[in-house]
Amino acid sequence: MDKIKTGLTALMTGASLMMASNANCADGVTVDHLGVNNTLVRVDSGRKFLLMPVQESNDDATVNILVDGKLDRTLHVRLAKTKVDYCVPFDMEQYAGHDVVLNIVTSQSRSSVRDAKEDACWSRFALVDTFDTSNREKYRPAFHHTPLYGWMNDPNGMVYKDGIWHLYYQWNPYGSKWQNLSWGHSSSKDLVTWEHHPVAIEPNGLGYVFSGSSVLDPDNTAGFGKDAIISLYTSAAASQIQSLAHSKDNGMTFEIYPGNPVITLESEARDPNMFWNAATGEWNLLLAHALDHEMLIFRSPDLKNWTLNSAFGKGLGAQDGVWECPDLFELTVEGSGEKKWMLICNINPGGPFGGSAAQYFIGDFDGKTFTPDKDADGNVPTKWMDFGKDHYATVSWSDAPDNRRTVIGWMSNWQYAAEVPTMQFRSANTLPREMGLFKASDGQIYVSTVPSPEVDMLRDRLVSRQSKLSVGKNPRKISLPADNDGICEILLDIDSRKGAPVSVMLSNDEGDYVDMVYNPSEGTLTFDRRKSGVTDFSQDFPAVTVAPTFSDDDSTLKLRIFVDRSSIEVFEADGKFAMTNLVFPTVPYNRISFSADGGRADIRNLRIFSIKAVND
Ligand code: FRU
Repeated sequence: MDKIKTGLTALMTGASLMMASNANCADGVTVDHLGVNNTLVRVDSGRKFLLMPVQESNDDATVNILVDGKLDRTLHVRLAKTKVDYCVPFDMEQYAGHDVVLNIVTSQSRSSVRDAKEDACWSRFALVDTFDTSNREKYRPAFHHTPLYGWMNDPNGMVYKDGIWHLYYQWNPYGSKWQNLSWGHSSSKDLVTWEHHPVAIEPNGLGYVFSGSSVLDPDNTAGFGKDAIISLYTSAAASQIQSLAHSKDNGMTFEIYPGNPVITLESEARDPNMFWNAATGEWNLLLAHALDHEMLIFRSPDLKNWTLNSAFGKGLGAQDGVWECPDLFELTVEGSGEKKWMLICNINPGGPFGGSAAQYFIGDFDGKTFTPDKDADGNVPTKWMDFGKDHYATVSWSDAPDNRRTVIGWMSNWQYAAEVPTMQFRSANTLPREMGLFKASDGQIYVSTVPSPEVDMLRDRLVSRQSKLSVGKNPRKISLPADNDGICEILLDIDSRKGAPVSVMLSNDEGDYVDMVYNPSEGTLTFDRRKSGVTDFSQDFPAVTVAPTFSDDDSTLKLRIFVDRSSIEVFEADGKFAMTNLVFPTVPYNRISFSADGGRADIRNLRIFSIKAVND
């Protein structure tokens, strides 16, 4: 049925009830302008998607979706005003055979309906059966997890079940800025190639679906069946309350618990992270008491009834921002066999290089209280999981096999996450990483971070190998692989016995470069991205980040560096530090150069692998 109306161009004046319809909209779409900021879009059902045209710089319009005359849901979409940047698909299959009307309230004031009719979006709503998600952008990562389109922040709710790593994440499917928060869902058999699934949990009347966690419940303590995945997340609207949902189809769809909320507090509290405590035979849960800068610790026999036991963290560690996204798990200290608990506390702002970052505490946990270790002076030291600017909301998978503690973090920073020069997608996650503990020479226990072993499978060809390169003042240059825009893994040992600082530089022919300098006498690796390419989208982006090398023998540093199209992750090869930074080179970096200004040094065991692009 062709519903396009023609000829009606009436202006809305005063209390006039006349409608103004658009003449040139797509088949199956009828647009009726009710008023200067209010438009009805009637949509035929029967096709798979309704494309909604977005202009990133515009304000959100409120899109109320009425199905058979009843409000089904409300979305916030930056509908295009002067130009269409891209379209987002809205699932119409769910409404097959029903009457669908979008009651749209645009935020921008118009002086007349004639003005409102000029908006670029109205003629670009379209009904289609396919939506093309193939890569259109040069900065889209080739081997890091990223949504097919739309905005992503925290990874959350991750759980391993029956050989599948489920990764949920904070997702806006209707634009590349933070809005409409839902749990997006990807899954993987190998942690490096991801299958993308429909949205797993969407906002219901209780609010946006903020971060949370998932567990398996093999003893059916919650009563949803022994194969169920149980998730807890924050419903965020006027208040932040904790909601439960469960999945009986291996994490594809979730049923929201009608008894929600299961935890309420008067002040902002979010990101529930729960786990089975085998020592106490109970569930534990950490909740970020965000503005109070503390983590609340609960326990429960059945995942529904939670008792608050203690609060950890007031006055400890970094305190300059809200506390978010906790995690707590036990690890073994390498070498000694000692067991310790690691409490992750993401903080925003207040990170070591500005904006958001992940701090952690090492200590003991008895099921009720977390007691942090102190340093020789009796203070609780502040420790960071990563020494770059782009590592946040890091939490671990529940029920990972072989006693692994595998984590993944959001590879961005709240300072500029919504401004980075991408549009089809906004943000990627770090490579999956394995957590361990080691004791450093200061007597303190620190986290060790190495890429998950599955990451090795991404290697394609060994494109360069040098057993020894002697370097001095003049840079020694080596080409990076040209495949897939130079994505690669670089392994090297820097041997600077005489203590000269050594520069490892990635650069391109446009003059963009990233300079990483190992300074043996200071025991630091710095990463300078001030000239890395496009940096002017935010004054907080140009930066130098610094990692302590934690080395007993400060003459040698072994590194593993992963270069994707818009990120660089640097790992000390034994995991003593990790450093994650975004970069937006105007063209891909095509060479690596080494120099030592102030003495000679050796680069040993250099290997450069090209990498398989798994996302394109
Ligand atoms: C952290 C965070 C969480 C919250 C989520 C909302 O980045 O602020 O505390 O649950 O993002 O998207």
